[in-house]
Amino acid sequence: MSSFTWVCLLFNLCMLLSSYPALSDPFLGEKGLAEIPSKFLNLAKRPEIFEYMVKIRRSLHENPELGYEEFETSRFIRNELDGMGIPYKHPIAVTGIVGYIGTGNPPFVAIRADMDALAMQEAVEWEHKSKVPGKMHACGHDAHVAMLLGAAKMLQEHRSDLELAFQGTVILVFQPAEEGGGGAKKMRDAGILENVDAIFGFHVSSSFPLGTVATRAGPLMAASGFFEAKISGKGGHAAIPQHTIDPILASSNIIVSLQHLISREADPLDSQVVTIAKFQGGHAFNVIPDSVTIAGTFRAFSQESFMQLKHRIEEVITLQASVQRCNASVNFYADEKPFYPVTVNDKDLHKHFQKIAGHMLGDENVKEVQPLMGAEDFSFFAEAIPGYFYYIGMFNETEGQLASGHSPYFKVNEDALPYGAALHASIAATYLLEHHSPIATQKRSSHDEL
Ligand SMILES: *[C@@H]1O[C@H](CO)[C@@H](O)[C@H](O)[C@H]1NC(C)=O
Ligand SMILES: *[C@@H]1O[C@H](CO)[C@@H](O)[C@H](O)[C@H]1NC(C)=O
Ligand SMILES: [Zn+2]
Ligand SMILES: [Zn+2]
Repeated sequence: MSSFTWVCLLFNLCMLLSSYPALSDPFLGEKGLAEIPSKFLNLAKRPEIFEYMVKIRRSLHENPELGYEEFETSRFIRNELDGMGIPYKHPIAVTGIVGYIGTGNPPFVAIRADMDALAMQEAVEWEHKSKVPGKMHACGHDAHVAMLLGAAKMLQEHRSDLELAFQGTVILVFQPAEEGGGGAKKMRDAGILENVDAIFGFHVSSSFPLGTVATRAGPLMAASGFFEAKISGKGGHAAIPQHTIDPILASSNIIVSLQHLISREADPLDSQVVTIAKFQGGHAFNVIPDSVTIAGTFRAFSQESFMQLKHRIEEVITLQASVQRCNASVNFYADEKPFYPVTVNDKDLHKHFQKIAGHMLGDENVKEVQPLMGAEDFSFFAEAIPGYFYYIGMFNETEGQLASGHSPYFKVNEDALPYGAALHASIAATYLLEHHSPIATQKRSSHDEL
């Protein structure tokens, strides 16, 4: 180590320990890190940030785009990043964007939003209703984008106040196609997580009160897959069954047998689900059809149980079909609808989250939830590097219960926007502040030179 390096190192340490005027800025006062979360929340509630987010969210809400078609959404976001002077990479996974705030050097911490809407007609009558028939932001991803941009604006504008925190880089991840398309997998496979130390993401939720967050350490959401099967028999007269091979009865037995996978083969303490959500066959009272199509989803809380379930679904469908002389083919659509892994929250990031969210909202407003059989493609990120996912409460008692996600009556409570933006910003900034080590940086750079 050169003497110059030592001087820098000592200077950095002094900066950390002293109350030099640079540190008594709006963000790093006497209590330092503990004050950052509430400062960000106050900032996010100020009109210049709150109204900025409301405007973005409403504009995106009027112009919803489906997975991998978020071209205008992506252009809109890049325009905002350009306006803030934030550099980014684009396109990643068709419409995805990765922005950078900070030094461009380690440590790297990522915060993520999904951008896609759903193929459904909005039933809410309001000024900013979807202008695109049959498409709607009914899962709140418009709000997720607005909150990530709100966080980006605060971090970028205050990066010199947060000088110490920005001895590192915040990575903004705007991903396509969360709703079944596995946009996160495509972004991950494109290498966006290389050298990234941790990633945080959230979802708005009408199940929890405004001003609260909810999550847990370990598994939060299930692994998920889809399947479709065609059961082929031989159609004919409904009153002369002996001359037919009835695929309706065969499919009914298949569905009953599939339910036995959960009730008889799975460990009762290892939660799993098999649901047949589609059963299509026949169109007359008196004709046995040639074939039936069934389709559904399966869920599990470990990769092992998930793969076992997949194996047995295929086996039960084909073998049970043959009991009734039918043939069956099973398609898991693994290319178009990749299996989502279990969403697992990293234990160390859980501690970080609890501390920061607790400082911002009060410990009593950081709730613990039970795992849910729903799935999130954030799990592709959390599978590759330490990840952490949580829910942001939107429920306001005075205003009454909100329709849940994927309902045509779904509404976002815009009062939740400052909470999401402030959490993104504080979690990322304090993560860098805690993980920036002058010694580690020096070591790393001397290795780079070798
Ligand atoms: C099932 O497949 C076999 C082999 O291809 C074929 O011979 C038979 O006719 C098929 N049965 C039905 C009911 O489609
Ligand atoms: C809940 O809604 C009421 C009525 O709109 C509002 O006055 C109140 O401030 C809201 N509560 C919170 C915590 O924002
Ligand atoms: Zn959704
Ligand atoms: Zn969603």
